[in-house]
Amino acid sequence: MLLKGQVAIVTGGGRGIGRAIARRFAAEGAAVVVAARSEHEIKQVVAEIQGAGGKAAAVQADLSREADCKKIVDGARVAFGAVHILVNNAAIYGPIQPIEKFPLRDWDEVMAVNLRAPLVLSQLVLPEMYARKSGSILNISTVGAKAAFSLSGAYTASKAGLIGLTRTTAAEAARQGVRVNAICPGPVTETKMSQDLTREFAAHFQSGGDEVLKQMMQSILQGRPQTADEIASAALFLVSDQASAITGQTLNVDGGMVFY
Ligand SMILES: NC(=O)c1ccc[n+]([C@@H]2O[C@H](COP(=O)([O-])OP(=O)(O)OC[C@H]3O[C@@H](n4cnc5c(N)ncnc54)[C@H](OP(=O)(O)O)[C@@H]3O)[C@@H](O)[C@H]2O)c1
Repeated sequence: MLLKGQVAIVTGGGRGIGRAIARRFAAEGAAVVVAARSEHEIKQVVAEIQGAGGKAAAVQADLSREADCKKIVDGARVAFGAVHILVNNAAIYGPIQPIEKFPLRDWDEVMAVNLRAPLVLSQLVLPEMYARKSGSILNISTVGAKAAFSLSGAYTASKAGLIGLTRTTAAEAARQGVRVNAICPGPVTETKMSQDLTREFAAHFQSGGDEVLKQMMQSILQGRPQTADEIASAALFLVSDQASAITGQTLNVDGGMVFY
């Protein structure tokens, strides 16, 4: 087991990629704190993990609120006594709008969830990790931060910012035994975010969702979407000791879509 005795926080662990990461980490021996707003989803994931013999706890939290970020970290310490791994996975996409019309209120909300919350959570866990001289933070970005997709200004800006935050935190943390990395997934079409977006883009361009997806798949070397489980495999590798010499990096898990 790669994560035996570790305690991991997975934000947005109630569904999609976060759920796959939470379940994979638990199967590898970690006690997992699953955090998101939808209580029924996080409780369901905790029940799945416990049903399989693993350890997990749910903390309902809205990451746009600083107090709720603290609630997650406090909840992890109360339930399991420490935090060894933080996965900043939760995110929202925001509206499909061109830059000249992008509503500032939505911009601020996307930034609060996608970029500010990872900072706040990192601030809350780093002192403990530094004191222990070990720990791992993984930020989930996107290939959209490296490509040029239209109508996604707040999302891509927040996710590009998350790569910057990853590198700066890694630089500060490296000599204190803490590694910080990011993953850029390509399209994981099974998730709610992806399915909602396909519908919204199809409506915007007045085409079918199938057409939108077909075009996207043509830009991927493997010609297929990624699965949440494939992202979870990369996440497990990066937070585990298997990646002991890897920090400040961004791993594209995209079937061959972007190349830097
Ligand atoms: N799916 C893709 O194609 C794709 C591609 C590249 C990158 N990604 C990234 O992968 C990560 C997971 O995406 P996904 O596709 O699995 O999305 P998803 O199915 O929509 O799941 C997002 C998770 O984040 C939580 N969340 C959203 N806003 C929150 C808030 N304010 N406070 C707390 N939790 C919040 C959601 O729960 P609640 O709504 O209940 O709070 C949910 O658990 C995201 O960072 C996304 O940007 C996804």
